[in-house]
Amino acid sequence: MILVTGGAGFIGSNFVLDWLESGDEPVLNLDALTYAGNLRNLESLRGDARHVFVHGDICDRALLARLFAEHRPRAVVHFAAESHVDRSIHGPGAFVRTNVEGTFALLEAARAHWNTLEGEAKAAFRFHHVSTDEVYGSLGPADAPFSETHPYQPNSPYSASKAASDHLVRAWHHTYGLPVVTSNCSNNYGPYHFPEKLIPLVIVNALAGRPLPIYGDGLNVRDWLYVRDHCSAVRAVLGCGRPGETYNIGGWNEKTNIEIVRTICALLDELRPDPAGSHARLITFVTDRPGHDRRYAIDARKIERELGWRPAETFDSGIRKTVQWYLENAAWVAEVQSGAYRDWVATNYDARREAAR
Ligand code: NAD
Ligand code: TYD
Repeated sequence: MILVTGGAGFIGSNFVLDWLESGDEPVLNLDALTYAGNLRNLESLRGDARHVFVHGDICDRALLARLFAEHRPRAVVHFAAESHVDRSIHGPGAFVRTNVEGTFALLEAARAHWNTLEGEAKAAFRFHHVSTDEVYGSLGPADAPFSETHPYQPNSPYSASKAASDHLVRAWHHTYGLPVVTSNCSNNYGPYHFPEKLIPLVIVNALAGRPLPIYGDGLNVRDWLYVRDHCSAVRAVLGCGRPGETYNIGGWNEKTNIEIVRTICALLDELRPDPAGSHARLITFVTDRPGHDRRYAIDARKIERELGWRPAETFDSGIRKTVQWYLENAAWVAEVQSGAYRDWVATNYDARREAAR
């Protein structure tokens, strides 16, 4: 079996569903169920013996030792993290704890387990660390996209904590020989995305007739990838990636934030017209994010060359599927906008002033 951490979060739950749709190897899913973890995402696996869920923290060393000893996973796929830049600005401590200390604890537990293995099992073991393109910092408009050798220049507490975890993973390979692979992926979107990130936030706010907050001038650029394409890339890297290597994963899909928001509004105008007028009327420019990275773009040629991976979705097909998923899953959307979610919205948006434009 494989051990997946953070498998109740956005990408992790998509990965677990994707994994069990593509094969029968069981998944041991370790997740602390923070505000971002949601077992509803995995409801379709209820009663499926191939999925074993453990409610626990990756910082809990005793738990990790017990899980490795009992289940003897052949690989770890490490998604668990604090993942939202704005939350990292308001409270960086949780990011250092989970992303740095948690990754350290997991590496140590994996190393202890790997040291008990021999021969083929030892050589075949993998620790796949799932990371982000944000570790590379921000690009200028004419800069080449991030390659795997781009210098690390993290700018937010989130990206700094992920960069730190990438460095630990690299060192555990170099020093101890642990067979690790790291993937650095661009912005994901798709089903089960918690509505604190741009795309799901805009969809749920537009459906509720609430303002669509655009930070700064709306011209920051992200490279968007449909989440199931990220899942297939992780499977490719886990299966055939070379130990010690990193692979950048991206959608060749650079878009400004304002383009993204206008596209979502146009889709909602088509699929769920609002008698009050186009959803674009709700667009509201607000105070920028401190230290806001201007542009991310991924050069995904290495994973294509070495592993034959390319995204299956275009942005047009992926965003249409995503909007449709939110329209069809109103109960999920209602449930995640609980009291704690409303507290976050107040923390992040109440102090932001509407910018005159
Ligand atoms: P998410 O915030 O939706 O999910 C994180 C999951 O980790 C949640 O289920 C949460 O309960 C769990 N978790 C948090 N702290 C934990 C702890 N201490 N112990 C155990 N579980 C814990 O995040 P996501 O968007 O699914 O991202 C998953 C991974 O992919 C992260 O490592 C992130 O850095 C990386 N990534 C995300 C994106 C993106 O666009 N979302 C892009 C590139 C890389
Ligand atoms: P986000 O989805 O938080 O991902 P990340 O910061 O990790 O790239 O944000 C994507 C872009 O959208 C980023 O440039 C910030 C911007 N943004 C807004 O303009 N308004 C919002 O309310 C949010 C959450 C993000």
